Amino acid sequence: MAPGGITVRRIEVGHAGEPGAYTVTVGADLLAGLSVPERHVALIHPVDLPREFVAQVQAALNPAVTVEVPARDDCKTLDVLGGVLSRLAGANIPRDGAVVGLGGGAATDLAGFAAASYLRGVAFYTLPTTLLGMVDAAVGGKTGVNLPEGKNLVGAFWPPRAVWCDTGTLASLPQAVFREGAAEAFKHGLISDPSLLPRVLDPEFRPGGALLEGTVADAITVKAGVVTRDPTERGERAYLNFGHTLAHALEAVTHHGVSHGDAVGYGLHYAARLSRALGGSDLTDHTRAFLRWQRPPPLPALTYEDVAPFMARDKKADADGVRFVLLRALADPYLTRVPESVLRAEFTGWQADLEELGLGGAGLPAAPLHNPAPT
Ligand SMILES: NC(=O)c1ccc[n+]([C@@H]2O[C@H](COP(=O)([O-])OP(=O)(O)OC[C@H]3O[C@@H](n4cnc5c(N)ncnc54)[C@H](O)[C@@H]3O)[C@@H](O)[C@H]2O)c1
Repeated sequence: MAPGGITVRRIEVGHAGEPGAYTVTVGADLLAGLSVPERHVALIHPVDLPREFVAQVQAALNPAVTVEVPARDDCKTLDVLGGVLSRLAGANIPRDGAVVGLGGGAATDLAGFAAASYLRGVAFYTLPTTLLGMVDAAVGGKTGVNLPEGKNLVGAFWPPRAVWCDTGTLASLPQAVFREGAAEAFKHGLISDPSLLPRVLDPEFRPGGALLEGTVADAITVKAGVVTRDPTERGERAYLNFGHTLAHALEAVTHHGVSHGDAVGYGLHYAARLSRALGGSDLTDHTRAFLRWQRPPPLPALTYEDVAPFMARDKKADADGVRFVLLRALADPYLTRVPESVLRAEFTGWQADLEELGLGGAGLPAAPLHNPAPT
């Protein structure tokens, strides 16, 4: 039990005792009680993170250097990475030292890649402070930065030694950012653990709510299971991309005017429609209910022709066309090619559904063609 009697949940990623295995701890009030075996620690956090979180980690770990990096994806650049590596070298962080990443998925992706590359790799610890950071980015070992040519084009698989998800930190997160992260938790419900679906939509799933820790821990458990069985994305890990083919296209066509989590909310509904069109169960009531709960900003008026080229450039595309992750039923995902006629017809139906939900065409600008974002 953590202070205050709140239960702490521990989730194993990988096979205990084997290289690359680690534990994710979920609970309130974890930051103040942290410890790591390494004596020399570098702490990396985004500039806009509430100071109290930084101060708690500094008090617990006594870092040799604390590096503040730009907010959001502005920190995921080769320039910022170079600056971070220089600060580590300047502080003489040794080979048996550690890098600790505190913040959202952007800062922890950068910190992980700094840990992977400094002195050819030092220990890395992750302290995610966003819902997306906890249920998605912190688990699976992917680290990296962006290039002007596209997102996440440079990086490494560099698993953390441990992940601590202090759910108390979510209290300062803007509600819209919390709801963006919920899209990944809901997706984990659709592809693997349907018990998550009503819980994500429950009013008690909120910072400080009775369903927060359990739902976050169970959503992490889904990803932990998938990446344990498929650590380097050769098979089952593709299922985590349910809803992401259209999501990546929406992010790209709006030049990231739509956030990833909001795009995933939209993409889940399209993928549910495709699943039904190809003979699967009708899961669209679930994805409609999620969009009603998430209330993402409305999309610009888009045509199928606007998004199709971006879907074709998704990482699941190959010479024979785009492969989609679809569901035969709840928790029964599969990969398949979808005929163009179905993609087009379901796009029209998806847009009609959005109109009904009050989420149709508000006029975000569409952007010129560039790489969609691999996650
Ligand atoms: N490595 C992976 O497997 C993986 C998976 C999914 C996403 N990602 C990456 O994660 C990033 C998105 O992460 P995100 O959604 O966490 O957004 P983010 O990291 O951009 O954080 C959003 C903003 O909230 C601030 N913030 C963080 N925690 C806060 C808190 N508790 N209170 C107040 N403000 C807080 C951040 O500093 C930032 O400015 C993208 O770069 C994406 O590529 C990585």
